[in-house]
Amino acid sequence: MKTLKILLILAALGMITMFAVMYSGVVNVAADEPHGKFVYWMLEETRENAIANASADIQVPDLSDPELLLTGGVDYGFMCESCHLKPGQKESDMSVGLYPAPPNLAIEHQTHDEDSDRRKARNFWIIKHGIKASGMPAWGKTHDDKRIWAMVAFIERLPKLSPEEYQILTAMD
Ligand code: HEC
Repeated sequence: MKTLKILLILAALGMITMFAVMYSGVVNVAADEPHGKFVYWMLEETRENAIANASADIQVPDLSDPELLLTGGVDYGFMCESCHLKPGQKESDMSVGLYPAPPNLAIEHQTHDEDSDRRKARNFWIIKHGIKASGMPAWGKTHDDKRIWAMVAFIERLPKLSPEEYQILTAMD
């Protein structure tokens, strides 16, 4: 009985703290100031575990057809480059201004997943569903899985492309 009472008091205190934080306006939501270390860690762990869980059953199709690089390249140049950059480019207004910042997909960046099939499944899920409360849109609302896999194939190759090769693959005919 006593333990129950203590638990109820703790729960009530937790709720009061939550409402105090919500309604006092002390939380800084400005995109030009990074989260503190603890909040950053909490959000990153939540995001990575959620994506790993949601993408666990995705089967990666054969992505070796070179045609995919052309379809994926044109889509990337049109829809993704403004945030995720291209070979030789260091920043854009979007890559500098957004928080969390869109990773530069034209360089080898920390992908959280060294296993290539898991990485591809993760990228597919992220492109299809987007990431809440970040600038990353859900492209699955307007593009079918085939086009999304083509983009996955393209971004696998992207860090190895020269600016000239990128130009060719992203050119529309
Ligand atoms: C308006 C900006 C914006 C556009 C346009 C955009 N993204 Fe993103 N993207 C983001 C942001 C921001 C993140 C990071 C989200 C986070 O850290 O929670 C992200 C994350 C990703 C990731 C995960 C990267 C990693 O290794 O963690 C992939 C893959 C990705 N985007 C692919 C794409 C593709 C493909 C397109 C085009 C179809 C695209 N994005 C268009 C903003 C954008």
